[in-house]
Amino acid sequence: MGMDGVMASEDEEASGRYIVVKALEDGVVIMGLTRGKDTRSHHSERLDAGEVLVAQFTELTAAIKVRGRAEILTDVGKVESGA
Ligand code: TRP
Repeated sequence: MGMDGVMASEDEEASGRYIVVKALEDGVVIMGLTRGKDTRSHHSERLDAGEVLVAQFTELTAAIKVRGRAEILTDVGKVESGA
């Protein structure tokens, strides 16, 4: 159930798992990859140094790809990309 009281469709349902990505340089790109047999990038966000994205895995998003230098926090730990 969303904040607006509307039931989310299966495609929109969030898992509750969040990741946090903090860009350590300009032009970091974060891509959302689709769940299922077909893996494609369905969305990308560009962050500049110091910008932070908080994102959730959903029925649509099974994996997240980060290009560039960033600090990534997930429930399995912390890692730095592009270093
Ligand atoms: N479509 C893939 C799947 O649902 C997406 C995926 C999940 C993936 N984990 C991955 C793609 C790890 C690359 C690497 O399984």
